[in-house]
Amino acid sequence: MGAVDNGCLLEIKDIRKSFEGDKGKRNLILDDISLQVCKGEFVSILGASGCGKTTLLRIIDGLIESDSGEVILEGERVGPAQRRRMAFVFQDSNLLPWRSVQKNVELNLEAMKELSKAQRSERAIEALRLVGLEEVASRPPYQLSGGMQQRVGVARALARQPVVFLMDEPFGHLDNFTRERLQQEMSRLIERIGATVVFVTHDIDEAILLSDKIVLMRSNPGQVSRVLSVDLPRPRWKYNVRAHPTALALRESIVEELGLRIDDWEEVGGIQ
Ligand SMILES: Nc1ncnc2c1ncn2[C@@H]1O[C@H](COP(=O)(O)OP(=O)(O)O)[C@@H](O)[C@H]1O
Ligand SMILES: [Mg+2]
Repeated sequence: MGAVDNGCLLEIKDIRKSFEGDKGKRNLILDDISLQVCKGEFVSILGASGCGKTTLLRIIDGLIESDSGEVILEGERVGPAQRRRMAFVFQDSNLLPWRSVQKNVELNLEAMKELSKAQRSERAIEALRLVGLEEVASRPPYQLSGGMQQRVGVARALARQPVVFLMDEPFGHLDNFTRERLQQEMSRLIERIGATVVFVTHDIDEAILLSDKIVLMRSNPGQVSRVLSVDLPRPRWKYNVRAHPTALALRESIVEELGLRIDDWEEVGGIQ
């Protein structure tokens, strides 16, 4: 079966998930989450720490099971065959220090038995080229900066040529300067390759810069509070997105929707 009728590649339907809490009590973490991701779409899931973003991404990838609901990729329920069609980028790239950068990228391809050794190496080089790291392919990862290591993490996912990329705050552990740079590189890369991405972040500006659609999540339990479309022209890396009136208005409505605005300074007593 091919893609579903409405053209959406990935469908998340009514996902509920609870974890065991204190004294055997179950804590509801995700409450009826539904969302759709169409081919070539960049969808961000934006919410505060602890609202269940990572849990949701793991459920999409089939790493953990939901209590109820389903994840459908290209018309089929996610099982081992579909898992191979998705690639994860984590907050930490966790590169193996004894393998070269290229061999780290190839590691993810070793389970793909249909690829020859030469094809694996070709794919790894191509992916490293896309993130601008072709020249350090033979170096050990510890010689690379944090930003470069994250780019290797992205290359590792690219090399698998997945149908969907799942990214869990891939720039979350980087310093501001490196993050700024990598966000722009990511923007350029996805526009070039037309990737389908589910991107988890708690950074409002990052979500606006990269996304076609932003899914706002509230916490306790994690629920979708609103879905916003980002109608900003592309290529976005070619202008200052943050200063664009549409981006400013969008930012304002996100801050409002997530209840991040303090309206009564007196009442909260200022900064403690
Ligand atoms: N394996 C687990 N067992 C129990 N609780 C968990 C587990 N994984 C996550 N949680 C809880 O679920 C909530 C959401 O976590 P997480 O999905 O990591 O949020 P986020 O990625 O948005 O910061 C948190 O309260 C966390 O403590
Ligand atoms: Mg998380």
